[in-house]
Amino acid sequence: MKKTMLGPDALLFPTPSVLVGAVVDGRANFMTAAWCGIASSKPPAISVAIRGERHTLKGILAHGEFSINVPSSDMAEQVDFCGIYSGRKEDKSKIFDLFFGDLNHAPLIAFCPVNMECRLRHTLDLGAHILVVGEVIQTHVNESCLTDGKPDATKVDPLVYSQGTGNYQRLGEVVGKAFSIGKKK
Ligand SMILES: Cc1cc2nc3c(=O)[nH]c(=O)nc-3n(C[C@H](O)[C@H](O)[C@H](O)COP(=O)(O)O)c2cc1C
Repeated sequence: MKKTMLGPDALLFPTPSVLVGAVVDGRANFMTAAWCGIASSKPPAISVAIRGERHTLKGILAHGEFSINVPSSDMAEQVDFCGIYSGRKEDKSKIFDLFFGDLNHAPLIAFCPVNMECRLRHTLDLGAHILVVGEVIQTHVNESCLTDGKPDATKVDPLVYSQGTGNYQRLGEVVGKAFSIGKKK
């Protein structure tokens, strides 16, 4: 297999595009993030790599709370909008119907099938980005996206981001069951 060396690149893809919510200067604000992942299970924690200049980060640091909203693929335009325009110049608080759960400074987007309320636990300055780690305090999932009481990615239909091409994509077919198809025969 012939390979091309691209130099150092954090080329882990694809990733879900999420909307990170915070209250900044008294107003809900949302930024798109593709560099988001699970950081731990107990306590449940999520990490997001956020550039220091993001308006959303200001609210996260001020209140120690934020939300992670997982959009479905039909929200591509709104997601892209939140990834192009900064809350410093654009009021992004009116784009979505919002609700609040347990935390007062973690605005949740009703139309997103999955929402997590997070309390800020750690920040790690890594250079271009600050790694923000939040403990998930509460999780909200659309009932229509559950199968046997568990969240079902096919029903959530997340908006996948492909670093490299820069395309938004949808999930493909189910290939098999994890922790099962690899078992010794
Ligand atoms: C697909 C996509 C993914 C993005 N991922 C990130 C990310 O992971 N971290 C980040 O700091 N900015 C990311 N951005 C850029 C921010 O969303 C963008 O700068 C946004 O305008 C910041 O909004 P704010 O200043 O209101 O917080 C992404 C943008 C797009 C379109």
